[in-house]
Amino acid sequence: MFVWLSSILVFTYVVFAHCAVPTTTTCRPTTPDVLGPYYLPDPPRRRQICDRDPTFHNERHLLVEGRIKNQLCQPITDAKIEVWQADRDGHYLLSENCRGHFYSEKGGHYAFLTLHPGKYSTDPEGEMYRPAHIHFRVEKPGYDILVTQMYFDGDSSLGRNDSCLACSSDHDDLVVAVREMCADASGRYCFNIARFDIVLSGGNGVDVVSDFDDSRIELEDIVRAG
Ligand SMILES: [Fe+2]
Repeated sequence: MFVWLSSILVFTYVVFAHCAVPTTTTCRPTTPDVLGPYYLPDPPRRRQICDRDPTFHNERHLLVEGRIKNQLCQPITDAKIEVWQADRDGHYLLSENCRGHFYSEKGGHYAFLTLHPGKYSTDPEGEMYRPAHIHFRVEKPGYDILVTQMYFDGDSSLGRNDSCLACSSDHDDLVVAVREMCADASGRYCFNIARFDIVLSGGNGVDVVSDFDDSRIELEDIVRAG
């Protein structure tokens, strides 16, 4: 009887002890991506980009928001976030139009307003396109600088259909869903929202994917743009 009771107690202890083991929450670092040839250092500080087009206020706006975190899922404040993208026609211009930088705030939160980026081709045959994307460069002392791109769910050019073979559009953590929000039922005052959380690796390096095929056409575009 004593042996039987002891066995039950030992079993119960083992089960509860196992269940009570504290789990450490971890966040997987965001997948890096290609920098691309359009990065220009020191873009203007602002949270609204692609707004130099006079039709900006007539367009459906895209609000991108999220949090910057470390690998323990703790918020990182005062991270410098640089963003740049093609305009809605798929062109990069060497102007400040579709570029900006800002800092994450309390809780690691950030947000900026833009227009949905257009798609462009880097395929010499012009048959394959890059999926619509927004470039990010995130920097905070004590963490690796992260260079990455944000993509949109449902884009037919993601993954194996991306004309940039080196790019990371096949990674789910870089692909966001877009939801619509309207001020009222009229549908006249609506905008799109995309949430993109970013996790930085601890260190002093740079997390980026080396670029081997994504520059030729874009550089030609730069020349055309002057
Ligand atoms: Fe790009």
